[in-house]
Amino acid sequence: MTPVPDVDSRWDGLIVGPSLATLDDTRGYGEVTDGAIAWKDGRLAWVGARVQLPGDEDSLADQVIEADGWITPGLVDCHTHLVFAGDRAREFEMRLEGASYEDIARSGGGILSSVRAVRAASEDDLLRESLPRARALVADGVSTLEIKSGYGLDLDNERKMLRVARRLGEVLGIEVRTTYLAAHALPPEFSGDAEAYIDAVVEWLPVLHGEGLVDAVDAFCEGIGFTPAQTRRVFEAARLLDLPVKLHADQLSDLGGAGLVAAFAGLSADHVEYSSAESVAAMAASGVVAVLLPGAFHVLRETKLPPLEAFRQQGVAMAVATDCNPGTAPLLSLRQAMQLACTHFRLTPEEALRGATVNAAHALGLHDRGVLRVGARADFALWDIRHPSELGYWLGGRLCRGVYAGGRFIG
Ligand code: NIG
Ligand code: FE
Repeated sequence: MTPVPDVDSRWDGLIVGPSLATLDDTRGYGEVTDGAIAWKDGRLAWVGARVQLPGDEDSLADQVIEADGWITPGLVDCHTHLVFAGDRAREFEMRLEGASYEDIARSGGGILSSVRAVRAASEDDLLRESLPRARALVADGVSTLEIKSGYGLDLDNERKMLRVARRLGEVLGIEVRTTYLAAHALPPEFSGDAEAYIDAVVEWLPVLHGEGLVDAVDAFCEGIGFTPAQTRRVFEAARLLDLPVKLHADQLSDLGGAGLVAAFAGLSADHVEYSSAESVAAMAASGVVAVLLPGAFHVLRETKLPPLEAFRQQGVAMAVATDCNPGTAPLLSLRQAMQLACTHFRLTPEEALRGATVNAAHALGLHDRGVLRVGARADFALWDIRHPSELGYWLGGRLCRGVYAGGRFIG
């Protein structure tokens, strides 16, 4: 007979019955049928087949839940701009009438119209507007969320955005990783003097970092954003503070942005539609993750595909994120982004799931989640599906039955 564990060594929770997609290997879903998963103190304590549980189920944990369907690691949305005010539906109409994203940006709309709305909103207003978006992501499986600044473009408004991002994490019980993206667009007060603006961006960074508001640093390296030389200055400021970098790179043209991230041993190059063969090789050599953003690709009706085959051949890890933002990706489901990645970029559903879990975690520098493995954070999602390929298949619908973050049920 198996001895009954004493109260202290009992697990906090145990779920029995569902199949598991552990992703705990470099290929395959890591399927376990009729599985069991247990956690204690916020970490996974047991993962495997139910029949192999070390004793009587009821005595093993304080709470035992019988379930069916599938459990995957909690989804990680590693690229969002979800703290914003207002919307840009009118610009969407203008684009459908023929204007380009660049035309709208150059005429003072685009990112700058969201800057006006964010500056006019109080911190509480911004929280109130952003919370339903974050809740929608969690309701579809997300347990870790990255949120960028970049619609404030001055010290106080960048701070306001980053504070709202942190508060969202507290309200929802999930981990929010914040990214400083002041180098997103040139604000009107610096019009014609991008260098002076970069001076300011570099000056604000240590202030906000000192307030505990910055986990990583990003920039928009593009014709309508900042040059590689200006991006480099932002990256150098990040390096002085030991902060990791990532980049909106090669979205609309090839400025060598992904290669620049590699030169700084950064976490990720994001968008990457126009990245060159040299940049891909540099990413592979430095372990930079390619973050694919099929929502922006879809909404902008782009046609230039990222160099997917080169990423595969050279072993560049691919992540998938929503890019949730009011301009190019009004997208509130990471699962939907996975579907778009399969449809537009021909990712396999397995690649899309890895892209929205373990690879996305790596794109944030997190190595304690994204797989179901003893010792990993107890972040996982329960799904009403027959096979995990369905996560890259359905458009819409309600498949997610629940999400746990750090062993706590969050929705
Ligand atoms: O990831 N490319 C720049 N930044 C965002 C869009 C932001 C916006 O249009 O508000 C992106 O697509
Ligand atoms: Fe983005």
